[in-house]
Amino acid sequence: MSSKKGTDNNHQFLCRFDTLENLETRSFDVNIKRKITSIFIIRKDDKIFAYYNSCPHAKASLEWNDDEFLDETKEHIICAMHGATFSIDLGECLGGPCKGKGLETVDVRVVDEDVVFNSKQ
Ligand code: FES
Repeated sequence: MSSKKGTDNNHQFLCRFDTLENLETRSFDVNIKRKITSIFIIRKDDKIFAYYNSCPHAKASLEWNDDEFLDETKEHIICAMHGATFSIDLGECLGGPCKGKGLETVDVRVVDEDVVFNSKQ
């Protein structure tokens, strides 16, 4: 189901994979079901993880600075509002007011070194 090129009717180009440092995070506005929605991506080694930019506690934006979603150690995602922490790989809440819940994943993949969002999800 991969496209040859990064952008077509079903895939929205986000960025080139090689422009992301390891453990770099970036937010993007994408069109999901005709609604502009904030998502963010994390590069960890050779993988990309992607989540809605919405905390399961109070639906606040997680971003505590432009394109910054990780704690000081860069081991976890941290919510800017009340400090809940989440695992990078699974988005599961590890501490804070939404323990037991998790971030909602988004279908983002790497196609020919392009990081693309699958809008057909
Ligand atoms: S809104 Fe994220 S911890 Fe409260």
